[in-house]
Amino acid sequence: MSGAALERGVLAVGGVPADRALDALRRLEPDARAFHLVDLDRIESRARAFTAAFPGLDLLPVYAAKANGLPAILECLRAADLGGEAGSLGELHLLAAAGFDPGRSVLNGNGRTPEEAAWAAAHGVGLVNADLVEELDLLDRCALQAGARLRVALRVNPGVGAAVHRYISTGDDDAKFGVSPGEALDAWAARGRWPGLVLDGVHVHVGSQLMDTTAHEAVLGIALGLASESASRGAPLALVNLGGGFGVDYSGAGAEFPLALWGRRLAERPEATRFRWVMEPGRWMVAEAGVLIAEVLWVKRRSGKRFVVLAAGMNDFLRPALYQARHRIVAVRPRPGSIEPATVVGPVCESADVFASDVPLPPLESGDLVAILDTGAYGAAMSSNYNGRGRLPELVVRAGRVIRARAGEGPEEMASRVRSDLLVD
Ligand code: LLP
Repeated sequence: MSGAALERGVLAVGGVPADRALDALRRLEPDARAFHLVDLDRIESRARAFTAAFPGLDLLPVYAAKANGLPAILECLRAADLGGEAGSLGELHLLAAAGFDPGRSVLNGNGRTPEEAAWAAAHGVGLVNADLVEELDLLDRCALQAGARLRVALRVNPGVGAAVHRYISTGDDDAKFGVSPGEALDAWAARGRWPGLVLDGVHVHVGSQLMDTTAHEAVLGIALGLASESASRGAPLALVNLGGGFGVDYSGAGAEFPLALWGRRLAERPEATRFRWVMEPGRWMVAEAGVLIAEVLWVKRRSGKRFVVLAAGMNDFLRPALYQARHRIVAVRPRPGSIEPATVVGPVCESADVFASDVPLPPLESGDLVAILDTGAYGAAMSSNYNGRGRLPELVVRAGRVIRARAGEGPEEMASRVRSDLLVD
C-alpha cells in the first residue's frame, strides 16, 4: 500500500493534494518542477507498528538512516522511540543532530575509519558492528583512549543468498560483508585480548527487500547456532542483531514482509528471552511514505511509442536505473481520456534514465504532474548532482501541514560548491 492515494480525482499525500504542495513550494522556489514529498504521520505509525510486532522481546529497533536521512524523518522516528543505525561518521552526526541518544545508536560499515571509531568511543555509541577481526584492535584502542568500553558485535557472513537483486544481497559468500563463522567463534573465544570492548554480539544482515521470512529464518538459525557454539567454548553471547531487510510491496498488490508472523516465530524460539535483540529496518519505515512528484516537460511520440519526459531524472531517483526496480507511476490529476502505455524518462543524457516503460497512463501534456510512488527509501538519499543537476527540494506532510524540510539546490548553489586550492607546486 502506498502512502499516496487519489482523493477526489487528485493524488494526495497525507491528505494534501500534490499539486497544492507544489503551488506552495513555488512561493519559495519559483522554478521548482519536481520534489520529494513524504508523509511523516505514516512513518510514525509504521514505527509504532514495527515495535508492536515484537512483543515480549528485549528489542532495540534502530532506523537505518541510509534509507532516508532527512532530519525531519530522523526526528520523527526518534520521537517514536526508535534508535538509529549509522553506516558512516556523517550518519552518526545526522543522528546526533536529530537528538538520537548515541547509546541507542548502532554503527555499521565495512570500512571503519579511525575517526568513526574515535567518535563512537567518545560519544558512547551503543553498539558497533565490526566487519573484520582487525577492526577490533582499532575499536579497542579508541575505547581505551576514551576511557570507555564499547559494545561490539561481529558481523558474520552466513553464506545465505537472498532471493533479491544481486546488488542488495549481502549475506552470500561472494558478498564483501562480514567474517566467516569460524573467525567469529575464534574472536569471541579470545575476547580477553580487547579489554576496551564488550564483544558479546553477533550481527547478520542478509539483504534488502526480503518479502518473506525464509532468509531471516535461515540466518536466525545460524546466529543462534553460533551463539550456542560460542557459549560451549566459554564465550556466551548476549546480543543478536538481525539487521534489516524487511521488504515492501512496490506493485501495489498489498503484499509485504509478514512482520507479525516473523514476530511470532521469533517469540516462539526458546532462546527469545535469552538475548538482547537488535533490528535495523530502513526501507520498511519510509518507502511507501514518500513520492517523487515531477512536472511533465515534454511528450514525444516516436516509433509508435509515447515518451513522457519528466523534470526529474536518474540522479534524483536511481532505483529503476540501478536495480531495474519497478515503481508505479501515476498522473497527479488524471485527465479524462484513454489509458495508453508510456515510457517515462528523465532528462539525463543516459539511456538508462528511464523510470519505467509500458506505464498505463492517461493523456498527459507539458506542465502536468506525475508521481513516482514509494520513493521514500533510497530515493532522495541516493540522489546526486550528475549532469549538473541540483538536488530536489524535500517536503514533508505532518497533520495536514506541508513543511519544506530541505530546500532544493539551485544551479548557482550547486555550481558554487566547486573550489580550487593549490596543493603542490
Ligand atoms: N543494516 C545494514 C547493515 C544495512 O546494510 C542495511 C541496508 C540496512 C540495515 C537496512 O536495510 P533495509 O531494511 O532498508 O532493507 N539502495 C538499495 C538498498 C540498499 C540497502 C543497503 N543496506 C535499494 O534501493 O534497494
